[in-house]
Amino acid sequence: MFITLEGIEGAGKGSVIADLALALRGSGQDVLLTREPGGCPLGEALRAQLLDMRNTGIAAEAELFLYLADRAQHVREIIVPALQAGRLVLCDRYSDSTLAYQGYGRGRDPDFLRSLDNFASGGLKPDLTLLLDLPAETGLARARARNELENKVESEGRFEAEALAFHCRVREGFLTLARREPERFAVIDAGRPLAEVLAEARALVAQRLSQRA
Ligand code: TYD
Repeated sequence: MFITLEGIEGAGKGSVIADLALALRGSGQDVLLTREPGGCPLGEALRAQLLDMRNTGIAAEAELFLYLADRAQHVREIIVPALQAGRLVLCDRYSDSTLAYQGYGRGRDPDFLRSLDNFASGGLKPDLTLLLDLPAETGLARARARNELENKVESEGRFEAEALAFHCRVREGFLTLARREPERFAVIDAGRPLAEVLAEARALVAQRLSQRA
């Protein structure tokens, strides 16, 4: 089973995915926790470039192919072998992030991006995608507070420095994707207290696992 988490900056994906891994491992599941970009050694190198604040000159087209290169390697080196071994794969961001950020955010045709992404991912689709949804203003405020706390302003802030309008388009893009595929997506209101968000995410995954059993 392949589960992905999506959402804008500051939606709380990190907390939710860590909690899900804990709960699933506690119930005896063999979980592989991974992320994009950066889920394999090549991806780590690409991630460092993609998130570096100093790389202001990366062309939008180059950015797209760097994310797709990360995915192409990650799918083949990490995700597919884990799924073939019967493991449950939990991935922090995947194809929907490319469609939302490089497509809706940057104003590129999502259908064109979908076909490129399909090539990069070898057509591998998640069984379940949890979309943590909240207003872009709230997410950005949370992400900035976290960056300051962790002193990451220099290295992790390239997207967080984008204008609010960009993040509003990304959020709307994610919601559009969720409406297109309601059977794959579950939208969680991430503006609520963390405990409620975690409980809902756990319940949604447990429900999907029981349907598959
Ligand atoms: P992530 O580490 O999840 O950042 P955060 O914890 O701040 O949400 O993701 C890194 C950034 O990469 C994030 O700003 C979204 C962006 N991204 C894309 O633009 N396209 C993609 O295909 C992926 C996977 C991520």
